[in-house]
Amino acid sequence: MNNILILGGDGYLGWPTAMHFSELGYDVTVVDNYFRRNACTELDVGMLYPVPTLIERAKIWHEKTGREIKVAIGDLTDPEFARSFFNGRAGYQWAVNEKFSGIPETVIHYAEQPSAPYSLMDYKHANITLSNNLLVTNNLVFALKDFSPETHVVHVGTMGEYGTPNIDIEEGWLEIEHNGKKDTFLFPRQASSLYHTTKIMDTDLFWFGVRMWDLRVTDLMQGPVYGVETDESVIDSRLKTLFNYDEIFGTVLNRFITQAIVGYPLTVYGKGGQTRGYLDIRDTLQCVRKAVENPPSKGKLNIFNQIMETFSVNELAEKVRRIGNRLGYGVEVKQLENPRREAEEHYYNPTYQGLLDLGVEPHYLTDESLEKMFKLVAAYKDNIRKDVIFRGVKW
Ligand SMILES: NC(=O)c1ccc[n+]([C@@H]2O[C@H](COP(=O)([O-])OP(=O)(O)OC[C@H]3O[C@@H](n4cnc5c(N)ncnc54)[C@H](O)[C@@H]3O)[C@@H](O)[C@H]2O)c1
Repeated sequence: MNNILILGGDGYLGWPTAMHFSELGYDVTVVDNYFRRNACTELDVGMLYPVPTLIERAKIWHEKTGREIKVAIGDLTDPEFARSFFNGRAGYQWAVNEKFSGIPETVIHYAEQPSAPYSLMDYKHANITLSNNLLVTNNLVFALKDFSPETHVVHVGTMGEYGTPNIDIEEGWLEIEHNGKKDTFLFPRQASSLYHTTKIMDTDLFWFGVRMWDLRVTDLMQGPVYGVETDESVIDSRLKTLFNYDEIFGTVLNRFITQAIVGYPLTVYGKGGQTRGYLDIRDTLQCVRKAVENPPSKGKLNIFNQIMETFSVNELAEKVRRIGNRLGYGVEVKQLENPRREAEEHYYNPTYQGLLDLGVEPHYLTDESLEKMFKLVAAYKDNIRKDVIFRGVKW
């Protein structure tokens, strides 16, 4: 049985990924230090519904399916803890079988501070973001180098690494001709937040490890994800992944739907022409699975752009307004002065063919899928706190 280690397994994407691979028959271990939950408590941004602890969820999963997801709680910025999963010293806070699972064949790395506004709240949160994200990645690179260079890492990067250049965005690489000679380089990257800057640096750390020590890495440049339900989460409502609707941790579509339901005008920053690539959470699972099943050879870094379609913020707001009104919510859209420094109208033409070629079948954002999301969020309407929706983090 293939052995998968998921770093950040308590998170929005980590937990659904853990259930997905467990259901497929993999031997899954999840690691997390509750950074995300603690940050939500510190910043007083409640989630839409309470989420059982990682250990409770692993127990529920075991009760319902008979399958085991091993849980290790700890901070991956601690190098000894990070290395324990590769040198046989790992201990688990919960497991049916406490014996070490063995060195993982695949590591899925999600364990980072994932919010642009969080990274720019002030210098303290900037430092937390830089040290957390880079140390976790660097600890992983060195653990692989020292104990297991054969292990395949699937890291989730972000389309935000590319920024919004005035040329077509390729999948990771660009061939350059200069003074009559040609070479291929990482596509030029220019982040619009410190969080995104750490993701660029992650890619650079992995690229270094691939060049120096023949590591095998897939970096998935993902766009903002929306949705909650996956095939495995419907087994028991307590297995649903976390859902934030605040400006710090809520992704834009999840946030807009929540705002529509409580009559809070949809907050479009500036002109609203900011265009990004989006995907359904079920497609994150498909993409990560295809990446796991198609590892690169030693000494190779594969990069795929992980989006299924592109929308401007205005287009998303319009879709949410239309479906919300059809469902009887009087939805308003409000343009706010943009608290961020970013292009509000720009060229955006990314390539995203690689994962489709591997067999991913997209779930597009249809009226039906939006209606389903409205219904899911509306079931928790009484929990929604309007005061956490907008925080006005400026940069
Ligand atoms: N959700 C999206 O829309 C999206 C889009 C693009 C890229 N990504 C990337 O995907 C990854 C997962 O995103 P997410 O939305 O699930 O975020 P998340 O915050 O829900 O998940 C990350 C998990 O990692 C854990 N973690 C962070 N630092 C850790 C540490 N030092 N030790 C142990 N655990 C730690 C957190 O507690 C959290 O549970 C992130 O790297 C993010 O940059 C997410």
